[in-house]
Amino acid sequence: MRNLNQFTLTDAVKDSFKTEEGTRLKFLLETFIEHLHDYTRATNLTHEEWMGVLNFLYDCGKISTPERHEFILLSDVLGFSALVDMINTRGGATEGSNLGPFYLDNAPEKDMGADLAPGRDGVIILAKGIVRDILGKPLAGAIIDTWQADATGTYPIQEQERGQDKYDLRGKFTTNERGEYWYTTVLPKPYTVPYDGPVGDLLRAGNRHAWRAAHLHFIIRAQGYKDITTEVFFENTEYIDNDAVFGVRKSLIASLKPVKKGQDIGVPLERQPDAMFEFDFVLAPE
Ligand code: BEZ
Ligand code: FE
Repeated sequence: MRNLNQFTLTDAVKDSFKTEEGTRLKFLLETFIEHLHDYTRATNLTHEEWMGVLNFLYDCGKISTPERHEFILLSDVLGFSALVDMINTRGGATEGSNLGPFYLDNAPEKDMGADLAPGRDGVIILAKGIVRDILGKPLAGAIIDTWQADATGTYPIQEQERGQDKYDLRGKFTTNERGEYWYTTVLPKPYTVPYDGPVGDLLRAGNRHAWRAAHLHFIIRAQGYKDITTEVFFENTEYIDNDAVFGVRKSLIASLKPVKKGQDIGVPLERQPDAMFEFDFVLAPE
């Protein structure tokens, strides 16, 4: 261990971990050390730059709370979250996309055709589709767990001091015997990810904006199938081609079509929609 230089150091650090051979942990640790050392050598990192990185991470920790996880946001804006989503999407299944910080696991159960935005102004949209497996078979009893921002780009959970109910604009639907789901809601607007902390400084340093393209969040679950966490975006809306957290995929963009008053859309609804989109979710076996 005396014969250390910038080229022998990497193996010495790897060897210092006595992790069990052949384990996933050993593989992850060794690959991480190799890439971190390669990065350091390739960039000729200075002491100032190295301390800059460590202080940035310290600041991310300092601003984090149970409600605000700055490291997840960092992962999002660096495309790290998107990469993990992409790698873990099963062949033939709906592509995964950001969970974001506003999910609540106990959203109210709703009847099919319910309106998720009673009393709210904005463009009312009908969301409609089928949950299938990768061979095209409709999945009855699948759970559609959805949450979203309102027509100003705000999640009700962010406005609880102003009397908003955190369970507004979210709900769980169970697909019928044909695997179908449908409900109305308000068309969400784009919003910014938090940019008043170190990740915001990083965005500013890179001349980047903090806007997310308007989206609906979904987790789809069915027994015997791998859950999907994803988002649905809308064609021809702002930031669709430069979402701050790289959440948009071509396959996740829906097209809104206008709905005329009195038009037969074939499903019973609580509220008259102004527009509709159809989106089918596909689940792969566990
Ligand atoms: C969201 O979609 O809710 C979100 C995603 C990443 C960062 C902040 C918000
Ligand atoms: Fe969101």
